[in-house]
Amino acid sequence: MTHTLLISSAIVALTLAAQQQQPPAQAQKPVEKLAPYYPTPEIVVERMLKLGGLKRGEKMFDLGSGDGRVVIMAAQQFKADSTGVEFDADLYKQSMDRIRSLGLEKRARIVHGDIAAQDFSSADLLTVYLLPDSNLKIRPMLEKQLKKGTRIVAHDFTFQGWSPDREEHVEDDGEGRSHTLYLYIR
Ligand SMILES: C[S@@+](CC[C@H](N)C(=O)[O-])C[C@H]1O[C@@H](n2cnc3c(N)ncnc32)[C@H](O)[C@@H]1O
Repeated sequence: MTHTLLISSAIVALTLAAQQQQPPAQAQKPVEKLAPYYPTPEIVVERMLKLGGLKRGEKMFDLGSGDGRVVIMAAQQFKADSTGVEFDADLYKQSMDRIRSLGLEKRARIVHGDIAAQDFSSADLLTVYLLPDSNLKIRPMLEKQLKKGTRIVAHDFTFQGWSPDREEHVEDDGEGRSHTLYLYIR
C-alpha cells in the first residue's frame, strides 16, 4: 500500500516537474538555424553601415546579431537606433552585457529570439550575414514587411531574385580575407 502510494506520488511529482519545464505551446516551434556564428570583421562592419547610408536616429536591425558588434557600432559610431536578433543564449547575453557596459541601452538592444518571428516593418536599414539559402527563406517575409525605401546590406551572400543596387568589395580585412557587400533598396 505504502509502496503504491510512493510510486503514485513520484509520478505526480515528475509530471508536475515536466509540466513546469515545458515552454508554452506557442514557444515550442523550433528555431531554424539560418547560419553558424561567424563574426564580420569590424572594418567590414563599418563598410556595411556606410554602404547602407545609416544616419543618426534611423532604425537598423541586424538579423542574427552574434556578439552584437554591428548593433553596437551602429549605435555608438552612427548614433542609430539599433536592434539585433539572436537566438543563441550565450551570444545574446554577451552582447547585452557589452551594450550595458558601454551605456548604450537607450540606442541599442538585442532581442533574444528567432529572426523568422520578428517584425522589421519599422526598419530603415537591415544588415544580414546569413547563408544563401537562408536569405532565400526570409525573402518573402521581408517583401511583406519592409516599407518602401528600406535598405538591406547583405554580407558575402546575395538575395537570389533581387538585383543589388550597389556592390562593394573589401579586398583585405586585415586578415587576408576579401568580402563582398550587396546593397538592396526596396
Ligand atoms: C554569420 S553570424 C553573423 C553575426 C553578426 N551579424 C556579424 O555579422 O558579426 C550569424 C548569426 O545568426 C544567428 N542565427 C542563426 N539563425 C538564427 C535565427 N533563426 N534567429 C536568430 N539568430 C539566428 C547565429 O547564432 C549567428 O550568431
